Amino acid sequence: MYICLCKSVTDSQIREAVANGGKSFGQVRKELNLASQCGKCGIIAREIFNESLQNQ
Ligand code: FES
Repeated sequence: MYICLCKSVTDSQIREAVANGGKSFGQVRKELNLASQCGKCGIIAREIFNESLQNQ
């Protein structure tokens, strides 16, 4: 499912970035270019990031 429409980033990509060692939201955000345009996806993207980190 697309989380960031501006940059075409999916929830799977966020989960994958965490699985590959993304330890901070800032790092994952930078890596995927997430939430870098309108910013509307920031809150849900962070929730998915936190959830992925907890489920590791
Ligand atoms: Fe992610 Fe716009 S939806 S920056």
